Amino acid sequence: MTATIIPAVPDPTTLDWNNLGFQYLKTPLRYRAHWRNGAWQAGELTPDAQVHISESSTALHYGQQCFEGLKAYRCADGSINLFRPDQNAQRMARSAARLLMPAVPAEMFIDACQQVVRANQAYLPPYGTGGSLYLRPFLIGVGDTIAVTSAPEFIFGVFALPVGAYFKGGLTPSHFVVSDYDRAAPNGTGAAKTGGNYAASLLPHQQAAERHFADCIYLDPATHTKIEEVGAANFFAITQDGKKFVTPKSSSILASITKYSLLTLARERLGLDTEEGDVYIDRLSDYSEAGACGTAAVIAPIGSILYGDTLHTFGTGTEAGPITGQLYNELVGIQYGEKPAPADWIVKVQ
Ligand code: PLP
Ligand code: COI
Repeated sequence: MTATIIPAVPDPTTLDWNNLGFQYLKTPLRYRAHWRNGAWQAGELTPDAQVHISESSTALHYGQQCFEGLKAYRCADGSINLFRPDQNAQRMARSAARLLMPAVPAEMFIDACQQVVRANQAYLPPYGTGGSLYLRPFLIGVGDTIAVTSAPEFIFGVFALPVGAYFKGGLTPSHFVVSDYDRAAPNGTGAAKTGGNYAASLLPHQQAAERHFADCIYLDPATHTKIEEVGAANFFAITQDGKKFVTPKSSSILASITKYSLLTLARERLGLDTEEGDVYIDRLSDYSEAGACGTAAVIAPIGSILYGDTLHTFGTGTEAGPITGQLYNELVGIQYGEKPAPADWIVKVQ
């Protein structure tokens, strides 16, 4: 039998906090809870990073699983902020409903995140490095069954890893190419944060990366005329007059918590009009700035988009636009506790 190679937990004092990137790093403790006999059992922290499940688990065969992504931030005063974890809990409940899985109660979800951050505090990047502790909650269907039906048991887990930039760091613009593939179907699972959507995105992402793009842009699966998402992030743009923040509205995209936060900040802090609507791929010249937004992506300014043979460049293509910069400062300032947060956006890790 071949032994599984289990990565060791790195010594946190050896980590280069300023250059973490976005890759798996094992931290000491993670949370696990089981759903059996119709109820969630008490969860606990474990050092075991392997998940031991039945070979027939629905998560493995039929994609009955979903996940979340949120971050913990070290503030200047040493305290730790979670950004809108209630929104991730609610979204995971919506994903679970779509996939016929039991919801994890919001209180349990947030408590699990708090426990994992507390237990792995030595791995939280210091204030000022631009890093954060990324939390990956997941919910999987497990147990002995081969029928295409919902699983008899479920596992909810949360693990943590220190991360830096997903795309290029800070406000350096990235370049994207429009994919011919769809990541989701019009009435499919695009709005659920489920692995199947990401499996569908692996090949288009690889093709974009081979052509030296940061990622690909997906168009709406029904008409292929409107922008939907930017890889694993949402899209936004600023109109040429600098007055409106626009972001796609679609039932097949993920309801990005960052996107909804930016809609609020654009309106309430920058005094912009906001719109969730149609962003036509052949009308990019209506916009002076564009960006990708998400938990991992934060705000990644879009320098250019290649659509077929047409290259559209935003501004010089090498610097973020001024409104993108203001939105970035507001969002990141709130996350690291430097700017006042709207009510209930920040949960302190106790
Ligand atoms: N769209 C997709 C497909 C994603 O995977 C993500 C990441 O979570 C987002 C958008 C951004 O969502 P959020 O801002 O909630 O992280
Ligand atoms: C996140 O931003 O949390 C995501 O889930 C994107 C990830 C798949 C890289």
